[in-house]
This record gives sequence, structure tokens and C-alpha cells, in this order.
Amino acid sequence: MKPVKVGICGLGTVGSGTFNVLKRNAEEIARRAGRGIEVAQIAQRRPNPHCDTGSTPITADVLAVADNPEIDVVVELIGGYTLARELVLRAIANGKHVVTANKALIAVHGNEIFARAREQGVIVAFEASVAGGIPVIKALREGLAANRINWVAGIINGTGNFILSEMREKGRTFPDVLAEAQALGYAEADPTFDVEGIDAAHKLTILASIAFGIPLQFDKAYTEGITRLTTADVGYAEALGYRIKHLGVARSTAQGIELRVHPTLIPADRLIANVNGVMNAVMVNGDAVGSTLFYGAGAGREPTASAVVADLVDVVRAMTSDPENRVPHLAFQPDALSDHPVLPIESCESAYYLRIQAKDHPGVLAQVASILSARGINIESIMQKEAEEHDGLVPMILITHRVTERHMVEAITALEALDDVIGDVVRIRVEHLN
Ligand code: HSE
Repeated sequence: MKPVKVGICGLGTVGSGTFNVLKRNAEEIARRAGRGIEVAQIAQRRPNPHCDTGSTPITADVLAVADNPEIDVVVELIGGYTLARELVLRAIANGKHVVTANKALIAVHGNEIFARAREQGVIVAFEASVAGGIPVIKALREGLAANRINWVAGIINGTGNFILSEMREKGRTFPDVLAEAQALGYAEADPTFDVEGIDAAHKLTILASIAFGIPLQFDKAYTEGITRLTTADVGYAEALGYRIKHLGVARSTAQGIELRVHPTLIPADRLIANVNGVMNAVMVNGDAVGSTLFYGAGAGREPTASAVVADLVDVVRAMTSDPENRVPHLAFQPDALSDHPVLPIESCESAYYLRIQAKDHPGVLAQVASILSARGINIESIMQKEAEEHDGLVPMILITHRVTERHMVEAITALEALDDVIGDVVRIRVEHLN
């Protein structure tokens, strides 16, 4: 049978990895797919020294690949929203299947892209968009299809996890580690996407839609980054038996879906609390299976290429099948998506870590406890340190039981209004993941 012809758009970190893996493992890939997969065209702005493209035809115009009648599958690896959207929609309009690693594109324009793909009877595959090389989309969409998913929680930004790990383990500075992540090709073109949680929110949006059968709703995700974390809080968390991780949490509740990305204390003995460096991990809790954990490299040249090439194999296997009988893009049949709302952060529930800087006066602890109890907030543990030499203030660290964010915000406002409490109360959410 003739090989399937693929056009790779973008020969950066992931594009070069995809080309190299397709070439190196060509024979095994053909045995799995049932046909060879041949890169018939590449769109690139400049050569990539990590990749010997040989005699493969090259163009500088990505849209030429979408218009090339020879090409069966367009692999979109240029990133961004604008040109990538135009490229993908053009490829679909021309009847081509698409493989993409672009989480921003899928999270923001996925509903439109999937609708067009259905009209044209083509596949849009996007495994590499979430958690790099971990096949978590396939696991959620197919392997866990029996379950009502209760929650998904993941470390889904490799750069952020790399930064937090290096800072905690080696005491390195934030800019120093970020520069290394950029040099290694982990970081987004705009690294604020990594450190402010936007990249993780893109990925969480995709996971939540596949887990709960809801349309993609990136604009409703709550996003908080890692830039304000201090080494003091990392240390106090450790002393209380927790690790701070930048977590994406999607939880199904009777009222709606929680969709939130933020720094989170996790008990230090949980496997996911020990996921370090650029590694990602996603926990999925289903009513039948219980908790599962998927672990692997969340970014990088060949780990991400592994997911892109697996999607290509899937597309080749499914391209001759009847479109109605393929696995739906968002796991649930398109006419069976639910309108269960995404909850605003004020209605989300979690436990909290609070750090209060208080004057060393009698009765302060009683006032704090009274404010919390008046709002039904139960204290799980409390640690009070000695007064600090430079300002005489006493750090008071509390872990609470679960409470709705709205009540916690009210309590923090009341705490900050106390005469004996100085400065802002530090608040970090806590998830026990059990
Ligand atoms: N910037 C992303 C990360 C790349 O660090 O996880 C993979 O999506």
C-alpha cells in the first residue's frame, strides 16, 4: 500500500523530534500503522541543526502545505493562535486530517475546529497538546471510558515544575532556572504562559472537556501562577508534611465543574508530590477505577514527538473508517455534550494553608480562631513560630479543612482587618487527592 503523506508545519523543538522519530522508527511505525508514513513536505522558517531533512521538499509557507494535494495529514507544530488556526481550518477545508501539539489552539478554538472537522469527516488529533509524551488523552478518552470521572489533578507544565523543583532542591533563583528551561526548549515562546499558569490552564481545559463531556471553556478557567511563592512558605509546607506543586484541578460537583490552576500544598507522601523537574503527572479519579496516575516527560523534543507520532499512527489506522464510528474528538458524542456549568472560583471548595504575620500579643490566636469558626472554617493543624528578629512578628501557619472559597475570602478580609495582624495573609490551597 502507498505510504501516507504527511506535511510537517514548524521544524522547531517538536517538529525536529517528530521528523527524527518518524525516520528512525519508520519500519516499526509502518508495521503498527499498516502503511508507511512519509514526510512529503516541511514548512520551516529556518533550518534546524537537530534535524537532517535530506531531500524532503521545504517551503517557508505553511499554508502551501495545507493546499498541497499530495498531503494526506497536516502536522501543525507552529504554535500560537492566529496562523495556526488559519492553517488548521484550511487543512480541514481541503479534506486533510490534522495532528497538532497546540494546546492554546485547541483550548481556545477547539469547539470551532472540531465542528469543521466533523463537517468534513476528518480527524483532528491532539495528544501532544497535554502533558507532552504521556498518553493521557487516550487514557481518559478510551481507557477510562467506563467511568464517571470525579476529578483530574495534574502537574501539567514542565517548565513550572522544573523551576519549583530546582528552587526547592538547589536553592537556585527563579530567572536562572527559567533561562535554562528556555535553552532546553521546555518553555513557551512567551514564558509568562508557563509561570502564570496559562499553559497549564489550556491543558486543564482540554482534560476537563474530555473527562466530563463539556465544551472547551478556557475563558472560565481560574489561573494563578507561581511567581509569588516564597521560600518561607515552601519551608513551612515541608515542616507540616506537604510539598507545594503548581496543580491543575478539574472536579465534578453537583453544582458544576471546578476548573482551576494554582500553587497547591499536597501531602508529601503522595506519589504526585514527588514528581520533579520537567516531569508531568496527571491523576484521574473515576467512580469504577478509583485513582490512577499517569507520569512522564511533559515537554521536550522526543517525548512530545512520541505523542505526535502516536497520533499519526492513530490517524492512519482510522482514516479509512466511517467518520461516525471514530472516537469523538472530546470523548463524548458531539450531540451529547453537557451544559453543566463551570463554577466561578468563589464557589470552588478546597482546604487552605494560611500564613499570618501577627504581633506577639496575648489573645491573637483566639481572635484568629474566632474569625475562622464564625464562618464554619475548621482548623486541621496550626504551627506558631518564634517571633522573627527583624520585626518581632510571629508567623502563624494554619491548615484548614475544606471550605468554599467565598467563605475563605471573607475570613481573610476579617483577619487582615485585625490590629494585631500585619500585612497580607498568605493563602495557598491544599488538596489531599484522596
Ligand atoms: N511549556 C510547556 C511546558 C511545553 O513547560 O510544559 C509543553 O507543553
